[in-house]
Amino acid sequence: MTYIYAITNQKGGVGKTTTSVNLAAALATANYRVLLIDMDPQGHASMGVGIEKHRLTKTVLDVLLHEQKPNAVWRQACPDLLRVLPANGDLTEAEVALTKRRAGESVLRDALDDARNEFDYILIDCPPTLNMLTLNALTAANGVIVPMQCEYYALEGLAALLGTVEQVMGSLNPDLSVVGVLRTLYDPRSNLTVQVSDQLKEYFGDRVFRTTIPRNIRLAEAPSYGKTIFQYDKQSRGAMAYLALAGELIRRNEMT
Ligand SMILES: Nc1ncnc2c1ncn2[C@@H]1O[C@H](COP(=O)(O)OP(=O)(O)OP(=O)(O)O)[C@@H](O)[C@H]1O
Ligand SMILES: [Mg+2]
Repeated sequence: MTYIYAITNQKGGVGKTTTSVNLAAALATANYRVLLIDMDPQGHASMGVGIEKHRLTKTVLDVLLHEQKPNAVWRQACPDLLRVLPANGDLTEAEVALTKRRAGESVLRDALDDARNEFDYILIDCPPTLNMLTLNALTAANGVIVPMQCEYYALEGLAALLGTVEQVMGSLNPDLSVVGVLRTLYDPRSNLTVQVSDQLKEYFGDRVFRTTIPRNIRLAEAPSYGKTIFQYDKQSRGAMAYLALAGELIRRNEMT
């Protein structure tokens, strides 16, 4: 079975891309075959694995709109078992085109039909909006991972996200579920963090990952070198945290 996770939260800057890139790299380090799909026109996940987004001849746009096979578009990254379907600003074109198309929400899922068996994990980095690109990710996925910064406004907007997930479950994708809520930029010394964290546990129970991702400067620096945290500083607390997250996810999946 292939685990396909949409990494999503319509709030900006909560660590979606950092999580997509480094969880993908951690899973590939653990010898799983991983595909990272960049569904954000910002192209940050592509840049985060060292892909120069302005020089791309083929992107995920070609998979979505021009019937290119994913294996003709994806690129190998580091570690070797990691493949990436990159994106850049051109992807906004797909957002518009898919909105007009019949069954425009299912295009990514259909495009992955043959490719999915080549991977153990497919992670989809979503843009910070509940738009057609996010709907495609939610329709293609069998699980949702929600990175959250434990701040006062964090819970606001969560209802909208869960509403969208339920809507997609009810119509396009009955297999979908919220697999986990990930606490990012985590500071256990802050009272507010602890309060919001408790609220999350009350609401999501054991779907809140036990692993937390600390605020770690090395995680913020790595993308400016086009490197994952494992290439940039594998001893850092950020690297340890993403390895722990991968471990937690793998153990959970082995149990079910
Ligand atoms: N654990 C962390 N410690 C320190 N900095 C982090 C951490 N996680 C993310 N950052 C930094 O915070 C910023 C936002 O992170 P990221 O790009 O992953 O969020 P995002 O949710 O993908 O944002 P967007 O909504 O724009 O797509 C980036 O500059 C990133 O390097
Ligand atoms: Mg992002």
